[in-house]
Amino acid sequence: MADLVKLTIDGREVEAPAGTLVIEAAKLAGIEIPSFCYYEGLKLVAACRMCLVEIEKTPKLQVGCTTPIAAGMVVHTDSPTVAESRKGMVEFLLTNHPLDCPVCDKGGECELQDMSFRYGVGESRFDEMKRHVDEQQWSPVVYFDRPRCILCYRCVRVCDEGLGVAALGVDNRTVRSAIIPNLGDHLKCDECGACIDICPVGALTSGTYRYQTRPWEMQHIGTICTHCGDGCKTTLGVRNNQIIRGNNRDHSGINGEFLCVKGRYAFDFVEHPERLQAPLLRVNGKLEPVSWSQALEAAAKKFQEVKARAGQFGVIGSNHTTNEENFFLQKFVREGLGANNIDHHRTGDLVTLLDALSGKTGALATTDDLYTSKAVLVIASDLAQQHPMLSYHIRANYRHHQAHIYAVTPGPVREDHYSAGSERAAEGEELAVLEKLREKLKAEPELIILFGDSIKGDAVRKLVEFGDSLAIPVKYVCLLDYSNSRGAVDMGVTPDLLPGYRPAAQAGMTWQQMLAADDLDVLWAIGANPLKRGDLAARNAFIVVQEMFLTETAERADVVFPAASAYEKSGTVTNVCGQVQRLKPALKVMGTKTDLEILGLLAKEMGLNLGIWLPDKVFEEIRKTVRGYNIPLPVIATGGAAQTSPLNGRVPSEARPETIRSARDTLFTSGSLGRYSKLLNSLLEAPGALYSGGYSDR
Ligand code: SF4
Ligand code: SF4
Ligand code: SF4
Ligand code: FES
Repeated sequence: MADLVKLTIDGREVEAPAGTLVIEAAKLAGIEIPSFCYYEGLKLVAACRMCLVEIEKTPKLQVGCTTPIAAGMVVHTDSPTVAESRKGMVEFLLTNHPLDCPVCDKGGECELQDMSFRYGVGESRFDEMKRHVDEQQWSPVVYFDRPRCILCYRCVRVCDEGLGVAALGVDNRTVRSAIIPNLGDHLKCDECGACIDICPVGALTSGTYRYQTRPWEMQHIGTICTHCGDGCKTTLGVRNNQIIRGNNRDHSGINGEFLCVKGRYAFDFVEHPERLQAPLLRVNGKLEPVSWSQALEAAAKKFQEVKARAGQFGVIGSNHTTNEENFFLQKFVREGLGANNIDHHRTGDLVTLLDALSGKTGALATTDDLYTSKAVLVIASDLAQQHPMLSYHIRANYRHHQAHIYAVTPGPVREDHYSAGSERAAEGEELAVLEKLREKLKAEPELIILFGDSIKGDAVRKLVEFGDSLAIPVKYVCLLDYSNSRGAVDMGVTPDLLPGYRPAAQAGMTWQQMLAADDLDVLWAIGANPLKRGDLAARNAFIVVQEMFLTETAERADVVFPAASAYEKSGTVTNVCGQVQRLKPALKVMGTKTDLEILGLLAKEMGLNLGIWLPDKVFEEIRKTVRGYNIPLPVIATGGAAQTSPLNGRVPSEARPETIRSARDTLFTSGSLGRYSKLLNSLLEAPGALYSGGYSDR
């Protein structure tokens, strides 16, 4: 730890590590030094001069955001000279500012408003005409209102340093300076909206949010993004039962302020006109809307009849539904139906990894580890496209701690821009190519290895052997695609493993085997769309589907239950690194029910006693019975992420690598959900491409 330095700020004795900036040291003492361009985590630019302070024995005011503290330093942040300087800076920033706060999206959340209120003058000395520049639309997501810009360069820096995209720049100098997009008059980028979010004023505004509401008219619901396995916390702004925006301005959660385009904007699928809002029953060959009781009765009757004659059930669960829903589903299938054919679409070989790591402690990396580890190796994944938040943390680690980043991928990836070693390897050849990096990796003090779906079965074991042979501490992340892919495996939605990786008495069929079995009596798909990827051999099987939309599977069903989305339910999900977080319902879509409610009502209709189907009750059972899930409740109740304790023992499971395949989603696709997001589909970059390596030519 750096040496502590003592100084005085506004008469208070402050102690802070050497190298701390005056603005941060003041913060430690509870003293606010106003700032616009300073932004924790981004490079220093000292552009706005809002943070000027007096330091005794220095002749002029000093810049608080770039001056490091020194022993015995005496700082004044509240002197008349400092107050005068702040007034001058605010007045200067408002010289050409349109002051259109009543119609500006940022009104009520604007740092310039706050600073003018706290530090500005009451009146302006300028009565000249202000220069007007028309608003520009740079993409469906990003709009730019140049006169409102105060040239703090936060947007330029977050896009370059935070995202690694560098799609924004500065044109011209002095009074002619202007922020510009990478393609002349429009943007081609990640469309993440980080630049809009970080803009202290209303210069950058969001195509989905602008002119929709005032911030104080919304409820702000903290929940978890439903699109990929990274598990970003998002705060949904909801008004009149409608989600209007997503952000994470309070920086809470494992993602800090980061959200990718899907987390920030792709919530519009919830109000897609094709959303199912009534149960459907096949009558005379056609799906007809029916009441919930009719649909429940039809499905339950069929389930009972097939159960009574010991027929074949095939149940395909989801990697989007909650832990509670997955746990209850497998209980329903195993205890209620006496069946063992249960599976879901597996997108990575976590099971073999856990088995290969048996006996090792601390070998599974957390999202925090990605930010602190000295070295990170990415194998067979375009992380910026498939795991944007993990990629963001790794970039931040590189910037802030000079971590060494390595990549072994089929095509160029964003990590190449700052890697200590990049190698190209076709699918299946990654491990052979990895040998080229052996000497460099061996010299690292520690390493995290993230690997994609082409490393499966024996390849996972060989990868762990490779890690062992480096003789340094190595941690792993098995990359899984969806918001609760990890939870689906942990909860036993697999043919041969019960919750907590205990062996099933008798292994059931994989979902591919279910589709191929010509004696299947019932196919029950819960938030899954298997008939998009394969045909059903049993032409007469009775199909029951729980879904949000009339997917390829739902179209063929006999009974369809309209299901609620993750933004409409309570429960928990587990991210790719095994961190459990809580979902909070942001709205209710008329006519739908959560999958847990549907399961509970079906169980009731069948006269099964599977316990209470309230999320909290089911989670209590999970905590008691699923290894690793006895997590502290206050952590998740307060919006935090609780790490499940890693399993440490053999996993008695067949790897079945042929059943594992990533959906290869990009930043702009999200399985079946993506096609119902108008916003995602409207972007220039959609559908995007893996192994693109970024948008700038640096
Ligand atoms: S990637 Fe695009 S939306 Fe994201 S910060 Fe850069 S310019 Fe803004
Ligand atoms: S657009 Fe916003 S974030 Fe970018 S320089 Fe202007 S004020 Fe700063
Ligand atoms: S990185 Fe994944 S979890 Fe985070 S906002 Fe994007 S899609 Fe959602
Ligand atoms: S905050 Fe210090 S110069 Fe802008």
